[in-house]
Amino acid sequence: MTKGLPAEAPHDCQLCPRLVAYRRENAATHPDWFNGAVPSFGTDTARLLIVGLAPGVQGANRTGRPFTGDYAGDLLYASLLEFGFAKGTYASRPDDGLELVDAMITNAVRCVPPQNKPTPAEARNCLGFLTARIAALPRLKAILALGRIAHDAVLSAEGMKRSSATFGHGATHELGSGLRLFDSYHCSRYNTNTRRLTEEMFHTVFADIRKYLN
Ligand code: URA
Repeated sequence: MTKGLPAEAPHDCQLCPRLVAYRRENAATHPDWFNGAVPSFGTDTARLLIVGLAPGVQGANRTGRPFTGDYAGDLLYASLLEFGFAKGTYASRPDDGLELVDAMITNAVRCVPPQNKPTPAEARNCLGFLTARIAALPRLKAILALGRIAHDAVLSAEGMKRSSATFGHGATHELGSGLRLFDSYHCSRYNTNTRRLTEEMFHTVFADIRKYLN
């Protein structure tokens, strides 16, 4: 892990050569897109941190806001609105005026990876940002990991071994720091189309988090 990183990666972060090259490729074909390390979105007083995988090329990498314009964002933002973690209207654009309430969304890997698949080395390079992100939220109580890679990143950011908490949809884990980790399958197009993750399953996880925070 790269130590001493800030909570947010610079737009032109240089830690991962493959991701820098991919960003440059996208910037050459779509100069009007964001094409940078996507910053976290939400409030500094959040009690809930949602950790996604990485920006989608035509979603967060284009718009500059996590999950915004991504297929996965439709279910995520609708669920946040339903459970009181967001207010306003989600319109797939960073200027839609949507605000998060008591919540923040970040990604385990801040730059878009080819085929949505970061390498283990890229996830490790980015870990210092997640560690700093968690440390910079003084009221944080709960983390929601969307998928196994996010789950593993949270454990590593907390200095815990992977073997100490097995990922499973609906599982919860007490982290050494007093935080509670909630696991969900990622709300990706693939997972929802195959019904590995249904809206009902996703909402059950949010209901658990709401109950815990109340
Ligand atoms: N968009 C993001 O920002 N993160 C994901 O994990 C998926 C889509």
